[in-house]
Amino acid sequence: MSNPNEQDKALTDLIISREDEVTPKVLNAMADTDDARLKELMTSLVRHVHAFIREARPTEAEFEYGLRWITRLGQLTDESHNETVLAADIFGISTLIDLINNDGMQGETMSALLGPFYRGESPECVFGESIARSDTPGVELYIKGRVLELDGSPVEGATLDIWQASPKGLYENQDPDQADYNLRGIQKTGADGRFEFHSIRPAGYPVPTFGPAGDLLKAQNRRPFRPAHVHFIVSAPERKTLITQIFTDTDEAMAADVVFGAKKQICGNLVEHTEPHPDYPNAKLPFFTCEYDFILKPGTPSFPIPPISGKAKAADQAAGDAPVEEALQDV
Ligand code: BEZ
Ligand code: FE
Repeated sequence: MSNPNEQDKALTDLIISREDEVTPKVLNAMADTDDARLKELMTSLVRHVHAFIREARPTEAEFEYGLRWITRLGQLTDESHNETVLAADIFGISTLIDLINNDGMQGETMSALLGPFYRGESPECVFGESIARSDTPGVELYIKGRVLELDGSPVEGATLDIWQASPKGLYENQDPDQADYNLRGIQKTGADGRFEFHSIRPAGYPVPTFGPAGDLLKAQNRRPFRPAHVHFIVSAPERKTLITQIFTDTDEAMAADVVFGAKKQICGNLVEHTEPHPDYPNAKLPFFTCEYDFILKPGTPSFPIPPISGKAKAADQAAGDAPVEEALQDV
């Protein structure tokens, strides 16, 4: 461009002067992204977030509050607590991602969200053993079943990574009264695909409410409860890893799941026993049993990065998660 006035005009045209110029300018700035998928994700994100802002028209004070809310997600996340995962869960984001990526259409067991309490590296629990590693008052629950292929044949050498809350409604990482890795364990199936372990029947529980996720739940008058369940990651070579939960609660509690994770297809059938049973000679009466088969589909195994890696120190726990009765006073 030879004329200096024309050049100035072309440049000033590129400088933003109006609200409606921002989105195209930002999209244009990202246009040279080499990674095609990153470009697709960020383009869509910018379009939708800008559209949200144009629709809701947040004030500056609201914007500042929102940024502070997100900052606190990171500040409260450490080795024993993951507020960021919790936030994704209470918005239904984790369940939406789960359902988009796992539809159960081939006959495999339905999945469910991972949640913020998966620690990884749990101790082994051999066939028939208990995953209770410290005295855990409650009613015994015996769980057994098989890991199967789509055609019903057994999967030998499948790994089940199991974790659950106590009847107090707390995971061991939240609770100084529970031993390290209490109610967590890893078991491998034998040639017949069978697994069997026992535990203490879990309770439904409130998700942690001491941080920004809890502030939002309170502001929205939402009850912070999850229905009772046991978590599983079931994996085997050349099979898609299954992250799921078996629910052991009422339909009412499942429908009210604060993180929208409960699904009809993964409801466990609990049977109460008030008389001795020859298959469970050491069980204390009354006790519950649950039989469940997991069905895997072919695929490439992949494993989630554990949202937490350790147990909170007693002082942090006292300041943090409340047992069920205390949480109930809040709602
Ligand atoms: C859980 O099931 O462990 C869980 C899931 C989402 C939020 C909090 C807990
Ligand atoms: Fe859970």
